[in-house]
Amino acid sequence: MSTAAPAPNELKALVGRAALAYVVPGEIIGVGTGSTVNCFIDALAGIKGDIRGAVSSSVASTERLRALGIAVLDSNDVEELAVYIDGADEIDPHGCMIKGGGGALTREKIVAAQSKRFVCIADASKRVDVLGAFPLPVEVIPMATRRIVRQFAALGGVAQVREKDGAPLVTDNGQHIVDVTGLRISEPMAFETEVSQWPGVVTVGVFAHQRADVCLLGTPTGVQTLNFRT
Ligand code: 5RP
Repeated sequence: MSTAAPAPNELKALVGRAALAYVVPGEIIGVGTGSTVNCFIDALAGIKGDIRGAVSSSVASTERLRALGIAVLDSNDVEELAVYIDGADEIDPHGCMIKGGGGALTREKIVAAQSKRFVCIADASKRVDVLGAFPLPVEVIPMATRRIVRQFAALGGVAQVREKDGAPLVTDNGQHIVDVTGLRISEPMAFETEVSQWPGVVTVGVFAHQRADVCLLGTPTGVQTLNFRT
């Protein structure tokens, strides 16, 4: 008798709960954005008395945290976070990621940078050998969009402005996002460094400098723990 493979939502719930093991009691927790993180936030509510609160990477996560009675602090009021828990759109064998499918990449990178440890939670479909099949999100200053589109074209990529309700999507930071297809990002660190320097780029959705330390991968046989740093 064959058993049905778990649905992606079940895998997200599985890793969301598994991430509780990385929550440091008495600390403030960095919280990312997305459907997998929503599962983590829901699980976190069950142990909210053990933490001092959270620093959030988006308006959406802030609203969810507060609705569940978890205090949300301003990142400027917190020196360092013990751990940051967030999802990913792709993760490679070194813990480098593409992020920003939910549009929160800039705040995600800020919170990741102030955290000692990045724990990525993802279902197994996010695991790739080389980054780039998922359209790369890049948050841009609107007046620079056309120039940035041309710069990606020179690298062989096709950049399209992300839209919502027929108009360019406006991020939590008041900027736009371009999604870039056709790239094969075999050197994520060098790529992130290069694109981050283009005038008008706010944040590129490659997380190599802020790569994951650990990934909890939801697989049909359970949670697989990938350690990227010793
Ligand atoms: C949001 C992100 C998310 O972490 C990423 O898009 C994964 O989302 P999901 O857990 O819904 O698949 O980077 O900006």
